Amino acid sequence: MNIAVLNETGANEARVALMPDSVQKLVAAKASVFVESGAGLGAARTDDDYTAAGASVVADRNALLANADVLVVVSRPSEDDFKKMKQGAVVLGFLRPLDEPAKLTPAMENGLTTFSMELVPRITRAQAMDALSSMATVAGYKAVLLGADRIPRMFPLLMTAAGTVPPARVLVLGAGVAGLQAIATARRLGAVVEAYDVRAAAGEQVRSLGAKFLEVDLGGIQTEDKGGYAVELSEEALQRGRDLVAEHAKTADVIVTTALVPGRRAPVLMEESAVRAMKRGSIIIDLAGATGGNVVGSKPDEIVERDGVTIMAPTNLPATVPVHASQLYSRNVTSFLNLLIKDGELHVDMEDNIVGPSCVTHEGKWMNQRVASMLS
Ligand code: NAI
Repeated sequence: MNIAVLNETGANEARVALMPDSVQKLVAAKASVFVESGAGLGAARTDDDYTAAGASVVADRNALLANADVLVVVSRPSEDDFKKMKQGAVVLGFLRPLDEPAKLTPAMENGLTTFSMELVPRITRAQAMDALSSMATVAGYKAVLLGADRIPRMFPLLMTAAGTVPPARVLVLGAGVAGLQAIATARRLGAVVEAYDVRAAAGEQVRSLGAKFLEVDLGGIQTEDKGGYAVELSEEALQRGRDLVAEHAKTADVIVTTALVPGRRAPVLMEESAVRAMKRGSIIIDLAGATGGNVVGSKPDEIVERDGVTIMAPTNLPATVPVHASQLYSRNVTSFLNLLIKDGELHVDMEDNIVGPSCVTHEGKWMNQRVASMLS
């Protein structure tokens, strides 16, 4: 079984799908690993590191694609790349099936079996494959550092001979994986932290990190689905959240927003008036930029100013921490690959409760109901 790793082509993408230590494990499981020359450089891994781990380094991308039984990627390959692969080959990575389903049509038409890391179910058995959590962890951490770097003040409380410096105030919106990591990072830097989430269960986690949980009365409505994800709220419920956020935003130095509802536009948590009411020199890092943003006026990968308030919406923060982001991702995809390898051969068992639900296309058909209905 040939596993191929591409040099990622996305703008500013520095991650690689497999790191050498994972290659070693896959080779030990009797797979052959082929890596496009230079694929690991962004993550500080050379071709020699891959060769030492047992991979073959290949300069010819087309040959690599044509020979792959399994292609492991960070981001979805281009239509061209899909077309160069052989029928029945497997593609594994962040394929954005719920955000851009039509982009997978070429893979479906080519008879490729595609598995999306976004669709890996969040069950205990699949925890080691939870790449969304891995990347959210990196993004939440880096967002706070970005904010700390740009505000015109320090984070910790300091008592000096020249007087007392009060701590920075950080507000985190959405306390899932990214939000909790943002809270932990901001606390380590010494900030006073508040956080808001629609899921009541998030309250305990927020408080255990030493932050204050902001609660709003949503009238006891259902805010969470069976999988633990937030559901789309009514406009009235959303507005209650926005009112609460606007009040607390006035005193914040850094706001990190992470609120997402899978397969939907990100909920708007801050209107322009709430942004303009913030202090001069404060900053918002909107981590929902790729799915529409949590903040009115935020623009993906652009820096916007509103009355002295900066809004950033970096869409790929994990790529700015490429070594650890790649390391975590590589271990996640390797755990998934182990489900597909039997005695060194490719063995796809759609009855498996992780493999089946993660599949988007197989044998020329859409395998995911949600994707299929979005396209019909
Ligand atoms: P996510 O990235 O889909 O959303 C981020 C956060 O935004 C969530 O906490 C969500 O409740 C919140 N949110 C959505 N709409 C909102 C609104 N209108 N206002 C305020 N907040 C809003 O979620 P993530 O980070 O992937 O985690 C979702 C859940 O899954 C959490 O309960 C987490 O603990 C759980 N989880 C379970 C895992 C497992 O069992 N293996 C692994 C990772 C996460």
